[in-house]
Amino acid sequence: MKFIKIEDCYKTYKNGVTATAGLNLEIDKGEFVFIIGATGCGKSTLIKMLYREEKPTKGKVIVGGIDVAKLRNSKVYKLRRKLGIVFQDFKLLPKLNVYDNVAYPLTSMGLKNKEIKPRVIKALDLVGLKEKMRSYPNELSAGMQQRVCIARAMVNGPKLLICDEPTGNLDPETSKEIMEVLNQINQELGTTIVMVTHDKDIVNRMKKRVILLDNGVLASDEMKGKYKVNESV
Ligand SMILES: Nc1ncnc2c1ncn2[C@@H]1O[C@H](COP(=O)(O)OP(=O)(O)O)[C@@H](O)[C@H]1O
Ligand SMILES: [Mg+2]
Repeated sequence: MKFIKIEDCYKTYKNGVTATAGLNLEIDKGEFVFIIGATGCGKSTLIKMLYREEKPTKGKVIVGGIDVAKLRNSKVYKLRRKLGIVFQDFKLLPKLNVYDNVAYPLTSMGLKNKEIKPRVIKALDLVGLKEKMRSYPNELSAGMQQRVCIARAMVNGPKLLICDEPTGNLDPETSKEIMEVLNQINQELGTTIVMVTHDKDIVNRMKKRVILLDNGVLASDEMKGKYKVNESV
């Protein structure tokens, strides 16, 4: 069975806008996939359905054996525990230090400190920020803050890491560092990564699978693909 399977998936928002219109897509465990396409083509909507922020209007979205459309609100946590999410804006809690930010998903699950500590240390090690665990978000560079977010997303040992423009606020050099961390997570831990991006250089350099969306439909899907988005704005 495929790790992610999207079948004839439509999403129409309440205002009548159709964001995805008959998407079909399969992603295997351990893949690294870029989702690209012009602004408004449905990239964020597609990944929001993967973590059940949105439900498909029609069709199927299956993630790690869970049918997202059929998942009750009270069971969404079961899906969320299988995945980590990283956004463009860091969404760190400013009053918590690095350690507590990374620990947050585990503390809210009710785990004991004894169980939390080794996992937080491991996650911070993964992104090279163990020595910053007592710092506060506003004391860190943008790249470091994004690495803290990656550690927080990975602290639960997810099989899937979803990233929506994780380098959108970063300069090219820092973006490169973030991509090295993501690549390492994919290569060494075998974590499946689905990443939305507008960054042409990153896509062209990484030589990964590239899925191009155009107006809510799949325009192309290539292994070792290139960036080929025509922005009309
Ligand atoms: N919550 C929402 N309500 C209504 N329309 C939305 C909502 N979110 C996105 N859209 C619309 O759906 C389309 C796809 O948006 P989105 O998935 O965010 O695209 P992208 O991430 O590729 O820029 C756009 O026309 C956008 O305006
Ligand atoms: Mg978007």
